[in-house]
Amino acid sequence: MNNTEFTEKYYMKKRAESSVKWQRGRQMDCLPMWVADMDFRCDERIAEHLKKFIDQGDFGYANLPEDYYKVFCDWHQRRNQITYQQEWIRFSKGAVNAMYQVIYALTKEGDGIMINTPLYPPFRSTIKECGRKVIESKLIDNDGYFTFNYTDIEKKFKTGKVKMLMLCSPHNPIGRVWKKGELEELFELCKRYGVLVCADEVHSDIIMPDQTFIPALSFKKYRDRIISITAASKSFSLAVFSHCHVIIPGDSLRKRFIQYQRHNNCSSVNVFNALPTYYGYRYSDEWMDSLNNVIFENYSYIRESLGKYMEMSVLEGSYLLFLNLEGYNTEASAADCLIENCHILANAGEAFGKGYENWVRLNLATSLTNVKKAVREILKLVR
Ligand SMILES: Cc1ncc(COP(=O)(O)O)c(C=O)c1O
Repeated sequence: MNNTEFTEKYYMKKRAESSVKWQRGRQMDCLPMWVADMDFRCDERIAEHLKKFIDQGDFGYANLPEDYYKVFCDWHQRRNQITYQQEWIRFSKGAVNAMYQVIYALTKEGDGIMINTPLYPPFRSTIKECGRKVIESKLIDNDGYFTFNYTDIEKKFKTGKVKMLMLCSPHNPIGRVWKKGELEELFELCKRYGVLVCADEVHSDIIMPDQTFIPALSFKKYRDRIISITAASKSFSLAVFSHCHVIIPGDSLRKRFIQYQRHNNCSSVNVFNALPTYYGYRYSDEWMDSLNNVIFENYSYIRESLGKYMEMSVLEGSYLLFLNLEGYNTEASAADCLIENCHILANAGEAFGKGYENWVRLNLATSLTNVKKAVREILKLVR
């Protein structure tokens, strides 16, 4: 399906009344390009199968579909050449919930947990709310292409305070799909200094055409100390179902995690909420590929139109673009500047890390028409 056909078929001209993204857009009379939530309807096969389940009217205790794990593993094998085993997989109600569980289960109060900033804000708040210490290592900004600062990371590891690294891969908001060599260097440091890795990989299905996603658990040498959090919520826009996987190959880590889940009565899976993920992994390869092409077209358009005027992240994965409005920003926060002058609702850069007041995060999972409208508005700032 080409991009125009995909957009005609799946772009939702009118989002549901309940849409968090559009409710706020309407309230503020702005084009909503905030929150990681897309304006495309999921593959019709997901909704059709869900409808069939609902139409049965049988809402008694249920098991997962018999081949749930096979379908999950096949998707990851097919798309990322990674072999997961059923016994490694646990469930949680959402990725942020999984972060809480991983932190509580596998670290102690007061432990240091490293994050690489700028970063999706709940990483920081979750660590704090769990009573752990945030240890920040800033990514290096090479004209929008962000990379790890290994010297800084090692310096902080050397203190012995860091017990876990919370990795975002692909990274929200700077759109990197980490290369094999980059991850290897990072994991080698983690191993050397006894640091566990919790990799949030919820954006791993949204990969730009010329990029390859490397799952954290593909490194056999390090995988006993790595936990992967993965979900289809971003892939097929299933956030309302709050269904997520926590993959733990290391026996001793997994045992501790399971024990935590049992003690806290959260070891069961919500079968209804798991179904759309199952249908998506089963039927929606083509839909996924088409979506990625649409995102890439949107990104290419923005880069071509605005790239000569302002810095922006190099989008390798996810549908989130980090844009630097320095020189054009008339307010304390660039997000306010976009609301005031362009009627665009974006996420404020400073929420992702100190010093990013001139930046905004824009959501590109929308129609090219909306992207063009946003570009026209932002160009008014330039002129
Ligand atoms: C990297 C990352 N992790 C987690 C989440 C939130 O996931 P959930 O809604 O499943 O908690 C998001 C949402 O934008 C995200 O970008």
